[in-house]
This record gives sequence, structure tokens and C-alpha cells, in this order.
Amino acid sequence: GAKGDPMILEPRPWSTVLGKPVAFHPYGVPSKYEANLQRRQSPGLTPTPQASVAFAPLQGFFGIITPNGLHFERHHQGWVDVDPEQHRFMINGMVKEAKVYTMDDLMRLPAVSKVHFIECGANTGMEWGNAAVPTVQYTHGMLSCCEFTGVPLKVLLDDCGADLKNGKFILAEGNDGSSLTRTISMGAALDDAMVAWGMNGEMLRPENGYPLRLVVPGVQGVSWVKWLRRIKVGDKPWNTMGETSTYVDLMPDGMLRQYTSIQECKSVITSPSGGQMLLSKGFFNVSGLAWSGRGKIKQVDVSFDGGRNWKTARLETPVLDKCLTRFNIDWVWDGSPSILQSRAIDSTGFVQPRYGQLTKVRGTRSTYHNNAIQSWNVAATGEVSNVHVD
Ligand code: MTE
Repeated sequence: GAKGDPMILEPRPWSTVLGKPVAFHPYGVPSKYEANLQRRQSPGLTPTPQASVAFAPLQGFFGIITPNGLHFERHHQGWVDVDPEQHRFMINGMVKEAKVYTMDDLMRLPAVSKVHFIECGANTGMEWGNAAVPTVQYTHGMLSCCEFTGVPLKVLLDDCGADLKNGKFILAEGNDGSSLTRTISMGAALDDAMVAWGMNGEMLRPENGYPLRLVVPGVQGVSWVKWLRRIKVGDKPWNTMGETSTYVDLMPDGMLRQYTSIQECKSVITSPSGGQMLLSKGFFNVSGLAWSGRGKIKQVDVSFDGGRNWKTARLETPVLDKCLTRFNIDWVWDGSPSILQSRAIDSTGFVQPRYGQLTKVRGTRSTYHNNAIQSWNVAATGEVSNVHVD
């Protein structure tokens, strides 16, 4: 009736006592009712948890920003907490003058802040041949998106007098035990790469490279070198281990394709997604994420019948360059089995491929750079599961 529910206005246990004081948690923590939303490992994926992945729980996020405590993690030899007072960053190689910077030197320069996604080249890597893992956390959770604060790499290269005529590449090197080194084209280095210390308004977390990491917008995560200690300017690619035996694409003819570093246009529905349950027929707002390493998201289409019919989804603002874009679309579920898919189109006109289209060119023995359309099956029971649709 017009009165609503009188119980709502009755005193409850929490409204008749003093609450907790301010700064009870000097660094805030989530509600205990949200304890299930965690980074998770896939047991058995790698021999040690130090050289492994913790996947971000994409199913629980809103908007485009990844909270710092839930950013995915990928380390080749564990993470370290480096003392910023001890940390030094050097630029050498083909430069007029090699220079060493302290964190104070860097942080007194004019900073820029930009929101970008980071996606590991191995994201969705288990899904090439068939539906392999149950939830969007595992299919797509090597993906995060933050506001990064730092200084454009170009400013530092100019400061050292980098030889821009002959210096066609840079080598980025971390300070952990993994000897991770990556070749990056001078084009990308000068365009929008950043030497960053800030992540969503605070210092980077140790897991994500505190106190300094390289941000290379649009490029696969392995090039975002953490605990960044050196950049060397050179005239040819270095062909390091991570550029010759890993992060390369095994093609159908058995050849390896190198340096496919840009993360192509991709999308995924995060709600509803694998492992979830639709509790009743009726209205749902289907929501997900789209991104492209080549620019902005122009359009996202959603299918409820396994790709036969498509409807254009709403793009939530902001829609930014080399950044996650949130989309949503209304759906009235009539209770019959359905297959949900999303297909993103970026500002270059590139259309995210179906598995059939991608594997025709790439084969199925690859690990890296899988940007195919993801399918979620909704059974008549309401159960949502991962299915492979060509
Ligand atoms: N940098 C160093 N120094 N050591 C590493 O193991 N892992 C790389 C990259 N930078 C790595 C690194 C890989 S493979 C990825 S996908 C990203 O960092 C992951 O960044 P994150 O742990 O902040 O999510």
C-alpha cells in the first residue's frame, strides 16, 4: 500500500549503538560483505606462484577503473617492495649524456595523468581451441585499467639527448630477479609512453612495480616493465628471451611471429558471465568492457542468439583512447536457452573477429593475442557458462 513497509523505520541493532570511530582502518578496507571479490590464481597454471598470474575479478567491477587492490598481477619472478630512496632510473645507450634519476628528480618534473588499460598478451590464452576456464575472471582477467601519473618518456629522452636519427628502439629493463627486458619502438616511446609512479591517485602498489613502471598505452602488458631501472637507446631490436620464445605467435605453418605488441580491438560481457545464475525471467541490463590498443571504441554490438542477430549497445562515458570502455544493453530474457556475445569496433574500423575468422589466420596452437568474440551460454535453468562458438 501507500505506507510501504513500516519495518524499515524500526530501530535495528546498528542504528541503536555508536558506530566505529574515524580512522579505525587508517587505510580503508572493503565491506566484509564483499570478501568474495578477490584476485584469484588458476592452480596448476605455472609450477610456482612467483612466476604466475593473479586474475582480476572483472565480474565485480563497475565503470572502467580497476581498484588498486584488485589489479591483476603477472610476475616472472615474484614481486618486490623497492625502497624509493634507493631506487635509481638510468637512461643510456645512444644518448648525448647518460643520466641517472632519483625518484625525487622524476617527481619534481611536470606530471601527466592518463587513464589506460593494461592487458597481458597471454590474456584469453587458454581459450584458443575450446572453452577451457569457467568465469570471465579467468578468461579475461589479465586486464586492468587505471589512471597513471608520471612523466612522458619523451621528456626524459630529450633531457638525455637521445639520438633520434639512429636510435630506432629502446630497451626497458626492470629491477627484479626476472631479467625482464623489452624492446619498444622509438615511435611508441616518443608518442605516449610514460615513466609512471602514480596509479589511481596514489603511489603504485609493490605488485605493480612500485616505485616506478613503464606505461606503454595500447601495447601488451609485458612491455610495461615494473620496478623500471633502465632504458637503453639502440638502433635495432634486442631479441631478448621474452621476444623470441615467449610472447610470440605460433602460426599454423609452425613459424613464430614476433613483435605483435599492440593489443587489438576486443570486448567481453562481464554481467551476466560464466559461473553466474539468472534468478528469474525478465529484465536484465547486460554490461561489459571493450578496448583497443589502436584507439577509441567506436561501437559495441551484442547478440543474444549466438551471433545471428546484433543490436548496438550504449557506450558509457568516458570513451577514451587505449582505455576500457563500459557498454550496456537492455535484455528481457524469456527463459529460453540463449548465447550472449559482444563484438567491438574501434576508431580504425577494425571489427573484433569470431573464433572461426581468427583461427583461420592464426591456427589454434597459439597462446598469445587472442581477441576473439567470447560466448556465454544461458541455459533454461538460468545457469551461465563458457561455450566455444566458431
Ligand atoms: N616487469 C618486471 N620487471 N617483471 C615482470 O615479471 N611482468 C610483465 C610486466 N612487467 C613483469 C614486468 C608482464 S608479463 C605483465 S602482463 C605486466 O607486467 C603485468 O603487470 P601487473 O602485474 O601490474 O598487472
